[in-house]
Amino acid sequence: MKKKNRKEQQTSTGETGTPVPDETSTAVYHVPVLPSETIDGLAIKPDGVYVDCTFGGGGHSKLILAQLGPAGRLIAFDQDEDARRNLPDDERVLFIPQNFRHLQRFLRLQNVVVVDGILADLGVSSHQFDEAARGFSTRFNAAMDMRMDQRQPLTAFEVINTYTEARLHKLFELYGEVTNSKTLAKTIVNVRNHVSLQTIDGFKQAVREIVKGNPHKYFAQVFQALRIEVNDELGVLKEMLQQLPKLLKPGGRAAIITFHSLEDRLVKDFFRRGTFDEPVENAFTHDATTNELVTITKKPVTASEEEIKTNPRSRSAKLRVAEKIMMV
Ligand SMILES: C[S@@+](CC[C@H](N)C(=O)[O-])C[C@H]1O[C@@H](n2cnc3c(N)ncnc32)[C@H](O)[C@@H]1O
Repeated sequence: MKKKNRKEQQTSTGETGTPVPDETSTAVYHVPVLPSETIDGLAIKPDGVYVDCTFGGGGHSKLILAQLGPAGRLIAFDQDEDARRNLPDDERVLFIPQNFRHLQRFLRLQNVVVVDGILADLGVSSHQFDEAARGFSTRFNAAMDMRMDQRQPLTAFEVINTYTEARLHKLFELYGEVTNSKTLAKTIVNVRNHVSLQTIDGFKQAVREIVKGNPHKYFAQVFQALRIEVNDELGVLKEMLQQLPKLLKPGGRAAIITFHSLEDRLVKDFFRRGTFDEPVENAFTHDATTNELVTITKKPVTASEEEIKTNPRSRSAKLRVAEKIMMV
């Protein structure tokens, strides 16, 4: 496995790794990362029920369907309505256009109580980056939006124009590791008293004097932080992970692909302990006795050099797989 330096590990699904389609090409919606590794990890049973929490371009779903027989089922979630256009004409598939933080609730509505496998390939699709109007990309000028779900009220515009200086400072520091996050927050608060920071170009222009280092990299980090905040990416991941033990059948598997270390740490810790609660100071209630998940991937699975060459976005992908323990 390739050793990565700390900076690389922090890199998110940012655009640095996103292939830029040329103007004449038909843009590909999304290329799935770690395709065979993910399918192997799920150890698919042909007549099983599987959930793809992040349907996107449907690349992983297509591979799951190829392993399922006529009695198998796939339930696909995506909070972005655009993903619907990629649905295959296949009666084994059910699409639920909702946030995966409500996984259990929406599965129950379909009378599904437990499933054989759950996949989540986190973050933003290439399509979302490449659609200028969605406001995810520093390459275009558009409204500061960044919502994966167009129905939610919170946008990047709201964050920039209403959050306190302290809150902005924290989110740029924590989610983007922006080196001068304090100065950035202060500048935003000063500028927004005179100008409304509506557009990407307007925002970049307003903070141009305090940009540190390579502007492309700097804005990629700033945008990553805003995107994580707007979509509550760590909050939804935590809520989804907490539902896994209840939703998986014994022997069922969860495969989670992350793109930055904050997400990966949550997955690793939850798989290891089965809870986000603080450890109790009592020798008789040891964590291991309550954790119903066993980690299958002792180390995270990362992309091969060949995959990274053809799909640069896979560079920061980390796959972890866990299995719900069998009853004894
Ligand atoms: C990286 S793409 C997934 C690509 C997909 N695996 C494929 O092969 O095409 C992530 C997708 O998940 C969706 N998504 C991200 N977070 C979500 C959430 N909390 N709930 C539902 N969908 C989400 C995004 O809208 C996006 O379409």
